[in-house]
Amino acid sequence: MKVKRQLILICTGKDCKKSGGKELYRELKKSTAKEPFKGQFKLIKTKCMDMCKSAPLAVAKDFYFKKTSPLKVLEVLKKP
Ligand code: FES
Repeated sequence: MKVKRQLILICTGKDCKKSGGKELYRELKKSTAKEPFKGQFKLIKTKCMDMCKSAPLAVAKDFYFKKTSPLKVLEVLKKP
């Protein structure tokens, strides 16, 4: 049986790392491991996505999250 998971891309390039990209990754990893998100998302660390002025950057559900925080991303993920 195939399990469909949505991808969340998180930039961990140099500028995003300085602006909290790694913390964003860690927080989202923790949050998506719990209910109601458990098993629905796959987090992927990326290199620079060439939008360094918007660091930290994440991409999920066809949205760019610029200068984002875990809460902002999770709010959008909750929406169906
Ligand atoms: S380092 Fe993240 S977009 Fe460049």
